[in-house]
Amino acid sequence: MKYSRIFGTGSYLPPKTTTNADLEKLVDTSDQWIMERTGIRSRHISEGLLATTDMAIIAAERALTDAAIDKNAIGLIVVATTTPDVIFPSTATRVQHALGLDTTECPAFDVAAACAGFIYALDIADQYIRNGSVKYALVVSSESVTRVVDWQDRATCILFGDGAGAVVLGADEKAGICANHLHANGAYADMLGVTGNMYGSKQEPIRIKMRGNEVFKIAVNKLGAIVEEVLLKNNLDKSAIDWLVPHQANLRIISATARKLNMSMDKVILTIEDQGNTSAASVPLALDIGIRDGRIKRGDLLLLEAFGAGMAWGASLIRY
Ligand code: ACO
Repeated sequence: MKYSRIFGTGSYLPPKTTTNADLEKLVDTSDQWIMERTGIRSRHISEGLLATTDMAIIAAERALTDAAIDKNAIGLIVVATTTPDVIFPSTATRVQHALGLDTTECPAFDVAAACAGFIYALDIADQYIRNGSVKYALVVSSESVTRVVDWQDRATCILFGDGAGAVVLGADEKAGICANHLHANGAYADMLGVTGNMYGSKQEPIRIKMRGNEVFKIAVNKLGAIVEEVLLKNNLDKSAIDWLVPHQANLRIISATARKLNMSMDKVILTIEDQGNTSAASVPLALDIGIRDGRIKRGDLLLLEAFGAGMAWGASLIRY
């Protein structure tokens, strides 16, 4: 049996922050409403020339340093993003070039699965490693969601932040990714997405639109179901999970998932208060923080989960 083990992690948050007090000046909202309904107090904002690719490169460099492997051993780069700087070339090829990998034998491509993007990208890299195609893979998630936020829409502009996270995966005989569970249902596609039109005669800016309350209910339902699926299909008791590393969309959604696992909130890696929803970047950001501050230790069993536009959702069970 061959596993994909996490050799290193890294992340990056842009320095500029926007607090709830800042947003009170923009839209009809309050710190109290935002905290009570979402758990978010502040978020990081990418601005100026610092964009998705730059953040991806910094997070990737930090993960490579942490992994302490020869960067030229990386055989695959997958970047999960739905807010790339440009539609093409892919963010992944630009990351490959910036890292100075002296190879053309390192396929590099992007994956778009909104907030579930990291889990989807992890699954792809895991398959390459387990089937022996590559020994090491770099998985990066980087998002500049605030660049497509409508700053006049109080229902969405309070939710999102920017940032990047990365992991270096490598083949290992003993432990690593135990299972990935992915789902998607395009019947829900209209509930969350971007309006606007980049092509044709009537070009309009790209802006997020969401029927938040409907998305909320589906998210709680699907994440509850996927947690049960992971336990059942991997023959595990709830008590076996050491850490929940969830997508950080809403503290109430995270709490509902933790309740499903009978897990106290101090076993959940939370970043939502200071980061908001960074889409695909939120899970690897939380993972990196939990590992670097010493809470997540080698040998711990982790459950990563995410849900987002598509709708697409997924979970990874990882022996760290
Ligand atoms: N400040 C004050 N009031 C607000 C705000 C705000 N920022 N936003 C909405 N309200 C009001 C609404 O207008 C509404 O007022 P009304 O009752 O007078 O009509 C009231 O608050 C309740 O609105 P709801 O939308 O029902 O509020 P809810 O409790 O559902 O919270 C939220 C909204 C936070 C968006 C929640 O629904 C949510 O988190 N949804 C899920 C988001 C998510 O998981 N997205 C998936 C990932 S994102 C991705 O894939 C890119």
